[in-house]
Amino acid sequence: MSNSDKYPILMRLMHWLVGLLILGIISAGWYMTGLEDSVSYKYDIYHWHKSFGMLVLFLLFARLVIRWASRVPPLPDTMPGYQKKLGVLVHWLLYLFMFLVPLSGFMMSNAGGRDVPFFNLTIPGFMEKNPELAGRLHDIHVVIPYVLLGIVVVHILAALKHRYFDKPEHDVLRRML
Ligand code: HEM
Ligand code: HEM
Repeated sequence: MSNSDKYPILMRLMHWLVGLLILGIISAGWYMTGLEDSVSYKYDIYHWHKSFGMLVLFLLFARLVIRWASRVPPLPDTMPGYQKKLGVLVHWLLYLFMFLVPLSGFMMSNAGGRDVPFFNLTIPGFMEKNPELAGRLHDIHVVIPYVLLGIVVVHILAALKHRYFDKPEHDVLRRML
């Protein structure tokens, strides 16, 4: 595998930055929702959760533009067709959930009649308060992040499989490092 088979540096930086952000945001979401209301810093974590969540949403758009403008290295010719297809499917599922998860959080807050923080800025709400809709979006937002996490686990296992239990030329992790 030559260096030209690597992902462009911007795509690699985005991949690892957003990957860390998402794992951090899921951990924070899980932790903060388990805290008693009396814990003084509980809603500080909500603030950071929402801000970084919106950052992931903004970075997704930048990331797709970068991807569109980049040369994505083709998968090795010797890789079986079904593996290539599965890889592409999982990657687009990851993109889809990187969109739906923060969007559902954003809409939930909006429908709940809350402005959404973005660090020290505020993203003004765009809809009337609608508790019923907020409730439905809440039901969605407390589930789909864990679906995303499940897809990420499959994604990581696939990368490890190709690195340690496959031909050296199928080690796609090298392309992303
Ligand atoms: C990549 C982006 C995001 C991820 C991965 C994520 C993930 C999560 C997770 C795992 C939970 C805990 C669910 C539970 O166990 O009950 C959660 C809760 C929550 N998220 Fe997000 N979230 C993201 C973005 C956002 C955004 C953008 C907002 C709002 C602007 C938001 C608002 C909330 C709120 C308010 C809760 C708490 C709900 C409750 O109190 O029951 N999230 N999120
Ligand atoms: C939240 C965590 C993660 C997300 C959301 C994520 C998402 C993605 C996406 C969307 C792609 C497709 C890139 C493209 O457009 O071609 C990709 C590629 C890749 N990811 Fe991740 N990733 C995450 C974590 C990881 C981790 C922890 C590993 C390492 C074990 C990893 C290894 C790879 C590799 C090797 C590729 C390139 C596959 C190829 O060569 O075609 N990812 N990732």
